[in-house]
Amino acid sequence: MTHRPMPEFPAGFRWGVSTSAYQIEGAATADGRGASIWDTFAHSPGRIADGSTGDEACDHYHRYAEDVALLAGLGVSAYRFSIAWPRVQPSGRGPANQAGLDFYDRLVDELLGHGVDPVATLFHWDLPQALEDTGGWLDRDIAARFAEYADLVAARLGDRMKLWITLNEPFIHMSLGHGMGVHAPGRMLLFDAFPVAHHQLLGHGLAVSALRARGSTPVAIANNYSPVRLAGETDADRAAGAAYDALHNRLFTDPLLGLGYPEELGLDQALIRDGDLDVIAAPIDVLGVNYYNPTGIRAAEEGSPLPFEIAPLDDYPRTAFDWPVVPDGLRDLLRQLRDRYGDALPPIQVTESGCAYDDGPDADGRVDDPDRIAYLDGHLRAVREAIDAGVHVTGYFVWSLLDNWEWAEGFTKRFGLVHVDFATQRRTPKSSYAWFRDQVVRP
Ligand code: FCB
Repeated sequence: MTHRPMPEFPAGFRWGVSTSAYQIEGAATADGRGASIWDTFAHSPGRIADGSTGDEACDHYHRYAEDVALLAGLGVSAYRFSIAWPRVQPSGRGPANQAGLDFYDRLVDELLGHGVDPVATLFHWDLPQALEDTGGWLDRDIAARFAEYADLVAARLGDRMKLWITLNEPFIHMSLGHGMGVHAPGRMLLFDAFPVAHHQLLGHGLAVSALRARGSTPVAIANNYSPVRLAGETDADRAAGAAYDALHNRLFTDPLLGLGYPEELGLDQALIRDGDLDVIAAPIDVLGVNYYNPTGIRAAEEGSPLPFEIAPLDDYPRTAFDWPVVPDGLRDLLRQLRDRYGDALPPIQVTESGCAYDDGPDADGRVDDPDRIAYLDGHLRAVREAIDAGVHVTGYFVWSLLDNWEWAEGFTKRFGLVHVDFATQRRTPKSSYAWFRDQVVRP
């Protein structure tokens, strides 16, 4: 672990932590909540590594005051959480279930009472099951449904929200959820999953307008990025890298920033109606960047259905998820975004950055996680270097506040600054919590 002092961040820099509803809330049927695609998926045999579900998760729904006290103790200026659509519209349409919104109302007030800015993601993958039953994100109509839902939430919380994030990682929801079937809703459409990209983007654009119409801003989207590391130096390797980059890093961001879809992806033009690209390019105030690791790429074998092949990145330490730890990848990504989009790029906030390790209490009950400290130290320095290089980065959120229910990995991957004993729900701040608190500079 490094003991070099952390360079200072600009005044007003937003320090935060992130979570999402299905991963922490539990209380799956409380106060009229409807089922989401993740309830269905987690309850299907064989889908989740340890056979668990998010039925209880961290029981944050009932313990939110304790969790906000942890945020206050951490000294962060912002908390990014997500709103469960099926709490607000149990069947995905119709008037708001006020009992569901009451929870977020209490949470927002609790945060503000502790001087923590609420930052809400409207869609972090937990689609109401009833909407999936009518086609989900494959059905164009869902974009309008999403905007209606955004309006209902803004009507209740818009007076106090400090930043809205429409969608979390639409690329991951498309690829893992609809392309490869390892996330809910478990569809395996491969490249036929592209309508999910277009309809998410359309929903995003309509939601931006709905929020602005309520006078509730600023607005962002949180994209997942994975910069390419070429594993070879041939022209074919470079072409493979460009193809992967277009898919993972540009498919969503190019149209959001007014450039239309990357041509090389050959999207089905029949999907895209007149005016759609203008809706999608509605100005955003912040670009949310979720970064975990780069991807090694080389040319595909002859006859492969894919235009690239994933190559292992061997020369790096790895997290418990087996993800390589490459802080420089974050610096390179931030610079690449600036170089690629220039003046069209809004200020960036790193909306997720973090790592899983097998942390547990020692004999004295303390949870020491030096690997996480080293990870965060490296990634914060990478952000600072990007700022020095002229990239406008205004915030950094650690994923995550709590150990939580990590999707298809269930409870087997611990990302928290705070350890959670899932049998007792006891929270124990790890050593990374104290370390991060020392980095945080309140305005
Ligand atoms: C991101 C997700 C988040 C969490 C982290 C580890 O892709 O947005 O919910 O699962 O990965």
